[in-house]
Amino acid sequence: MNLQQLRKIMVFYGRFTPSYTQIGYRARSLLWRNPKADFSGQHWVVTGASGGLGRFIALEAARLGATVTAVARSQAKLDQVVADGRAQGHQRIDTALCDFSLQTDTQRLVRDLAARGRPIDVLVNNVGLLNHAHVITAEGREHSYTTNLLSHYVLTEGLIRAGAFRKERPLVINMTSGGGYNVALSTRALNTLDPKKFNGTLAYGWHKRAQMVLNQHWRDTYGPKGFTFYVMHPGWADTDGVKTSLPRFREVLKSVLRDARSGTDTALWLAAVRPPQREEESVWFDRKQRAAHVYPHTRTSKDTPQTLVAYLDADVARVADAG
Ligand SMILES: NC(=O)c1ccc[n+]([C@@H]2O[C@H](COP(=O)([O-])OP(=O)(O)OC[C@H]3O[C@@H](n4cnc5c(N)ncnc54)[C@H](OP(=O)(O)O)[C@@H]3O)[C@@H](O)[C@H]2O)c1
Repeated sequence: MNLQQLRKIMVFYGRFTPSYTQIGYRARSLLWRNPKADFSGQHWVVTGASGGLGRFIALEAARLGATVTAVARSQAKLDQVVADGRAQGHQRIDTALCDFSLQTDTQRLVRDLAARGRPIDVLVNNVGLLNHAHVITAEGREHSYTTNLLSHYVLTEGLIRAGAFRKERPLVINMTSGGGYNVALSTRALNTLDPKKFNGTLAYGWHKRAQMVLNQHWRDTYGPKGFTFYVMHPGWADTDGVKTSLPRFREVLKSVLRDARSGTDTALWLAAVRPPQREEESVWFDRKQRAAHVYPHTRTSKDTPQTLVAYLDADVARVADAG
């Protein structure tokens, strides 16, 4: 490592560690008044709900009265979430299988959820991962691009078009990451097929940046139809995902990383309070609407929300829906 790299790392940790870890959460939460959350009568769909933050959101939403459809790719892990819910006294967790790295499986999930006929009040697009390995799916796409971004687009648009949301106060919460702060929107960088050009950390940042932009597009498009969209990031939480993808980062920071409760606090708070939001693109973090950019270089891009959506639509059209 050269001096310049070392300096960059020190600046990065110096800037974000106090805020993104449990330290920031503890300090900010001293000033919060906790709302009385009641999700009774609501149906939540939570993706990536078999572990980490998604699992906690599913269990907590059920504890607060919601009926939850927990979605992931392992039935055994989902059964464990149901069993954990039962052990805590909540009977209302249902499951659905989906591999979000595959468009056709996500489209199958849309049909499955619509056919179940239980209107959705809250969709939490939580599934996501940082993949260092360069994996191409059976549909010919880079695996993390599909999981982190394309599947969110296919699922959300599909459920809206299928009329699967409840008419009154439908809500979508998108789980992004501070990794998105590092890069500008770039459609060219989303789906890296050449292994020589692939960098998992950068790819994750591009997906998460695009997710922030997509959220704003959805606000503009579906806000007038009664939908609320929030995009939030959890800070740095100790989950299996972090253990696998960022072992050295975890090793250094594990004593101060957030737990699942503090990492998901903003998601659950947003659903309980439904705060109004300023018009401009932004990201919620620790119960506050914050700027979508922390560095000037990410503000300028050849891409726009329109080119992003056109890119995703064209990509979806390439793969035939099996249904
Ligand atoms: N933890 C953090 O510090 C942090 C920070 C910033 C942002 N985030 C974001 O928060 C979200 C959750 O992160 P996490 O740390 O809780 O992750 P995690 O511990 O890896 O959990 C991810 C969940 O998604 C499931 N999943 C992964 N790939 C899937 C696929 N292709 N299809 C269906 N399910 C799949 C996993 O189940 P399997 O057992 O099947 O893998 C697991 O249930 C992600 O979007 C992440 O980017 C997390």
